[in-house]
Amino acid sequence: MTQDELKQAVARAAIDYVVDGEIIGVGTGSTANFFIDELGRIKDRIKGAVASSEATAARLKSHGIPVLGLDQVARMPVYIDGADEITASGAMIKGGGGALTREKIVASAADRFICIADESKLVDVMGKFPLPVEVIPMAVPVVTRQLAALGGTPHLRMKDGQPYMTDNGCMIIDVAGLQIADPLAMERQVNNIAGVVTVGLFALHGAHTALLGTPSGVRTLTF
Ligand code: A5P
Repeated sequence: MTQDELKQAVARAAIDYVVDGEIIGVGTGSTANFFIDELGRIKDRIKGAVASSEATAARLKSHGIPVLGLDQVARMPVYIDGADEITASGAMIKGGGGALTREKIVASAADRFICIADESKLVDVMGKFPLPVEVIPMAVPVVTRQLAALGGTPHLRMKDGQPYMTDNGCMIIDVAGLQIADPLAMERQVNNIAGVVTVGLFALHGAHTALLGTPSGVRTLTF
């Protein structure tokens, strides 16, 4: 099976977690895109969706799914999204697609986080995937020095020769070479650096369930 087929399989399996008559939180990325396409097939069963990025909002709308803001939604039963890495206890690195801040906000408004990923994302210790950190632009030099002091190698994310800009008008520093033994402690530590908007560690708001695509079927982990 290709990686895309594994992603499609978990996207289909995630439909079982959609709560009829409710609003759903929807993540960002290639796996989330497959999920949105599946959601489009059952759109009459839900009231609408809260999007974690402009790209996700556009894809939801292209399927005719109503996109709501958090001013219109108190809580959601479920948030469904991919991950760049996930541990056996449900902590994740996210933000490879740059949507980490809105992902964390929407996830925090949901009762359950369902992570959908191919099984290559499951790791013992996170950090092989560079840790994304969203930063206020004027703070980039200061934050870069403090991230380097944690032992990693920070790089400002670039796109077309310019700093990559998030949906929030901020920049992203990717920190390579970390060994994240205690994700919750590191999430708190990086979030406390002045100028950091969000660190792409999801330990405080980790996954409740992971649906992992394997060649022999979808493996379900609950945390
Ligand atoms: C987007 O900002 C990310 O958090 C994605 O959810 C994550 O990178 C997983 O993306 P893929 O499904 O494309 O691997």
